[in-house]
Amino acid sequence: MYNIIKFFLFLFNPEFAHHLAMKSLKIADFLGLLGLISKKNDCKPRSVMGLKFSNPVGLAAGLDKNAEYIDCLSKLGFGFIEVGTVTPRPQPGNPKPRSFRLTKQEGIINRFGFNNDGIDQVIENIRKSKFKGILGVNIGKNYDTPNDKAVDDYLLCFRKSYLIASYITLNVSSPNTKGLRKLQEGKSLDKLLKVIKREQKILYKKYNKYVPFLLKISPDNTNAQLSFMCKLLIKYEIDGVIATNTTLSRSEVVKSKSRNELGGLSGRPLRLGSLKTLKFLKLNLKGKIPIIGVGGVMSGADGKEKIDNGADLIQIYSGLIFKGHRLIDELCRAIK
Ligand SMILES: Cc1cc2nc3c(=O)[nH]c(=O)nc-3n(C[C@H](O)[C@H](O)[C@H](O)COP(=O)(O)O)c2cc1C
Repeated sequence: MYNIIKFFLFLFNPEFAHHLAMKSLKIADFLGLLGLISKKNDCKPRSVMGLKFSNPVGLAAGLDKNAEYIDCLSKLGFGFIEVGTVTPRPQPGNPKPRSFRLTKQEGIINRFGFNNDGIDQVIENIRKSKFKGILGVNIGKNYDTPNDKAVDDYLLCFRKSYLIASYITLNVSSPNTKGLRKLQEGKSLDKLLKVIKREQKILYKKYNKYVPFLLKISPDNTNAQLSFMCKLLIKYEIDGVIATNTTLSRSEVVKSKSRNELGGLSGRPLRLGSLKTLKFLKLNLKGKIPIIGVGGVMSGADGKEKIDNGADLIQIYSGLIFKGHRLIDELCRAIK
């Protein structure tokens, strides 16, 4: 069935196809059709970071940037949903076209640049949803906020989403916001983690609700950079890490026409790069910090590979585009 839907969707450019698919999903939900396709999968629930996940397969950030489709996406069978990346102020993102399908390689290159309606609108949208499962809010900085003020953007989004999120992700790894990845390094990362950890303690005391936060990292870090990150994650007792975001590497897509498009590459060509990062984290975090594995999960076997190599949970984005929602069930069966 999804092959037919995909055939039509792939006739359009990726951004238009995305909006078409999301609107159709909403209509299908309104007509009560999603209940017919969503299966109860037999994956065991998992407790990670003090949260109970109905299954370990989540939706990665970027697909529902403004939290407009949580209710219908949840009916596809995800164990958790991450919305965003959201920034303090609304921003349009980069000029179009900004998303490219590498159909043969089952990859996507995107350079959206955090197009989103801003944290206030996103919080409003979450409030309106009926979803009661695990919801992650992925936060970032506005494109025109200089790096030395970036912490203020994260702090503002962290405070605003604290009571409504099950967990919060600090995205410092998108390649499409100038200088963002520099926040993964040296004093910038130290300051960011220190400030947010301090704020988490304050808010925990104030509201008597502990909301874990995670750092989402890139697959393009050197071992030295990763090693530095691991030390800080342990030092500040960060709740988790998401590995990984998209890659700037084109080594797996040398034959594709679109390989020279600027942006981050995801999907099948990202699998090995992401896996390498995951293995490094597993070894160096010494089991002290949970890992969400994401990048190139296109089959049950890919998901099992992540779990076998140290991921506590997994997320998908490109796999959903190329394989449809049946991938969630396939993953649940492979992982259980
Ligand atoms: C079109 C597109 C937009 C994305 N937007 C975001 C984003 O806003 N924030 C973020 O943290 N990751 C974003 N990502 C990265 C995904 O969350 C994920 O980390 C990455 O695509 C690797 O997973 P995949 O191979 O399953 O797609 C985006 C990915 C794609 C394909």
